[in-house]
This record gives sequence, structure tokens and C-alpha cells, in this order.
Amino acid sequence: MSEAKLVVKEDGPILVSGDFSLCDGEGNPIETGGKATIALCACGRTESGPFCDGKHKQCD
Ligand code: FES
Repeated sequence: MSEAKLVVKEDGPILVSGDFSLCDGEGNPIETGGKATIALCACGRTESGPFCDGKHKQCD
């Protein structure tokens, strides 16, 4: 097992890797598709929340 690692990208998403579980605000699990690394939206513009869909690139 590897420790969870979060990387905050400047003007972009938060990359999460390692051993982690993702839940919504009510504690319900969110499927991550078995990916080793996920990108969580930090800008609030994604249409695929909570995941980054690249919309942050359209922001000034
Ligand atoms: S951080 Fe990428 S869409 Fe929000």
C-alpha cells in the first residue's frame, strides 16, 4: 500500500494518487474507474464533477 499523495497544480486540478477512497459529501463512494491517479476539479467549472474535464484551461 502506498500513501495517498495530493498534488495541487497551479491554475489546474488536484492530482490524487496512491491509496485513497473518494466519497461525496454524504459519505457515498464515488467510482474512480480503478485509475492510479485521478484529477479533481479545483476551479468549479467542470461538467464532470468532481473530476477535472479540462475546463480550467478556458479560464483567464
Ligand atoms: S480544475 Fe480542471 S476543470 Fe476545474
